[in-house]
Amino acid sequence: MRIVLGVGGGIAAYKVASLLRLFTEAGHDVTVIPTEAATRFVGVATWEALSGHPVSNSVFDDVHTVNHVRLGHEAELIVVAPATADLLSRAATGQANDLLSNTLLMAGDCPVLMAPAMHSEMWQHPATQANVETLRSRGVTVLEPASGRLTGSDSGPGRLPEPEAIFEAALALAGAPSVPNSPDITAPDAAPSPPAAGRPLAGLTVTISAGGTREPLDPVRFLGNRSSGKQGVALAAAARDAGARVRLLAGHMDVPPPAGVDVIRVETALELRKAALHAAADSDVIIMAAAVADFRPADVAGTKIKKRDDVADPVITLVRNPDILRELVEVRDAASRTQLVVGFAAETGDADGDVLDYAAAKLRRKACDLLVVNHVGQDKVFGEDTNSVVILSRTGSEPQEASGSKSDVAAAVIDRISAELSRVVPPA
Ligand code: CTP
Repeated sequence: MRIVLGVGGGIAAYKVASLLRLFTEAGHDVTVIPTEAATRFVGVATWEALSGHPVSNSVFDDVHTVNHVRLGHEAELIVVAPATADLLSRAATGQANDLLSNTLLMAGDCPVLMAPAMHSEMWQHPATQANVETLRSRGVTVLEPASGRLTGSDSGPGRLPEPEAIFEAALALAGAPSVPNSPDITAPDAAPSPPAAGRPLAGLTVTISAGGTREPLDPVRFLGNRSSGKQGVALAAAARDAGARVRLLAGHMDVPPPAGVDVIRVETALELRKAALHAAADSDVIIMAAAVADFRPADVAGTKIKKRDDVADPVITLVRNPDILRELVEVRDAASRTQLVVGFAAETGDADGDVLDYAAAKLRRKACDLLVVNHVGQDKVFGEDTNSVVILSRTGSEPQEASGSKSDVAAAVIDRISAELSRVVPPA
């Protein structure tokens, strides 16, 4: 595969030499385009020696070959690492002031993956986040940076994901086979499985919500829940490995999102509802694995609620949040979309019925196509690395059990989804 490897001007440029080696050793033909600033960290000679190709960062070198047009048209995959705040901004606003930005504008349908690295403040700045959102909305895959020690004494989100993780995500994006057993460093509990036979979700868009919502009480307090996001993250990795373009609507999670998926961060149930309804418009599958708060405080204090001796202690009034899953099904049916909607249910049994009785009632209430049922209780499921579920279908077919690691359960759910989809749209 012909790959263009854009290198931004950050200290992490040195790690990209290893990424280049991974690509060339896997047999890919890589042209490196460093920015002017990148060559202050790693020289042109290094990129030329490792790639076996001449390296330039100017549109005025080899003008007769019209380099940016040729590179943009010929590339089958473009990877930018480290994607600095400046590069993300230039790409988002369509600037064309060096060979790399010109090539990005010429990329057409070619898959583009950007791996950001910068200080946490720069990454979290609204300007950078807006640029990332713009790029993602145009179909660019922007990885989440890893968290950890940064260049100075600071630490936090902003580290370049490890070269192996970028390599893995890039090949998954381009639909090329990945290397068996290569570690997925950004998601330790969701190591990619080898590509499923025939990549059953290739060409499909899968939206997955994960983690817990947080409903604010005042600027420092919220009502939350114990969801770790592990099962949703494992589902995202499994859907990615099955060939899907994956969008992860991430509430509060204890684990990082997997490489190679688009991440949209949400905080509250209302934010999740907005993101889910928006994403639904072009999704073939929606999986609601998030633990959504059923209620939110009726009033959110603008300043921190203080204890006072001269007034009574506060009483919190709750109002009901919309049922997003139910709404997704209603919108799908109203728009006559061919879309599979999958819910999760956390159930306990009692004297009036067992877990499956309650789950079957919930499936009828929510009217989704599949319901993945967890049996919850003290010390069960939340934050654990294993899970045990039963998958119920609206068509009334036999309940299917799956258990093991959260990756095993995710693979079983994705297999079941693939089977349901092939029933709706039989393979050609
Ligand atoms: N869900 C949702 N919107 C809500 C609450 C839940 O979309 N406001 C989704 C969850 O993501 C999950 C499914 O609904 O896929 C089941 O969530 P659960 O909390 O188990 O069900 P509830 O409808 O809240 O039922 P109950 O609390 O009465 O058991």
